[in-house]
Amino acid sequence: MSPRIARLTAGHAPAYRSLMLHAYAQAADAFTSTPQERASEPDTWWVRRIADPQGGSVAFGAFSGDELVGSVALEFSDKPKTRHKVHLIGMFVRAEHRGTGAGRALVAAALEHAQSRAGVRAVTLTVTAGNEPALALYRAFGFQLFGTEPMAILTPSGFQSKLHLWKALDDCP
Ligand SMILES: CC(C)(COP(=O)(O)OP(=O)(O)OC[C@H]1O[C@@H](n2cnc3c(N)ncnc32)[C@H](O)[C@@H]1OP(=O)(O)O)[C@@H](O)C(=O)NCCC(=O)NCCS
Repeated sequence: MSPRIARLTAGHAPAYRSLMLHAYAQAADAFTSTPQERASEPDTWWVRRIADPQGGSVAFGAFSGDELVGSVALEFSDKPKTRHKVHLIGMFVRAEHRGTGAGRALVAAALEHAQSRAGVRAVTLTVTAGNEPALALYRAFGFQLFGTEPMAILTPSGFQSKLHLWKALDDCP
């Protein structure tokens, strides 16, 4: 059964923290952060990540019953020259819930939210080279590759390149 998708609020911060600390360890090649550095962030950091009172970031969760099993976040810019762009980050679905449409539903919710924000025209994201499931997911929504950064991150499996993708919002279905 497909997980239910909902916008995360400050009260979800402990579950989100726990999900993402698992994600940074389980999918180390997919993320720029380590579980150790994120584990030391204060509670306020996690609240700001998922439900920033200033509107700088929002997150959506995939729930199986009451359990948070997946998430994605959006980071907005308040700078006049870049506030037309939003960055999609922290995409993760627990391994046992993959392949049931959660990832697709999370991206759809994030894009719908981005489109609802006045003045936002484009979504950017990065994917580690070789992460075919994530790449296929983003391509299915029309994200296009515009560049590759060699040696972008150093993970337990060595240096990894990052693919940079973007999507214009006026072509959302
Ligand atoms: C990438 C990820 C979020 C996909 O989540 P998911 O819930 O399994 O995705 P869905 O079931 O909604 O699948 C949506 C689409 O993703 C792609 N996809 C998902 N799993 C795939 C796989 N194993 N191989 C190829 N494509 C895959 C397909 O295009 C799929 O569409 P389809 O079912 O019509 O073929 C999940 O694999 C994950 O959390 N991976 C580890 C963390 C990660 O890589 N995050 C991305 C950081 S950029």
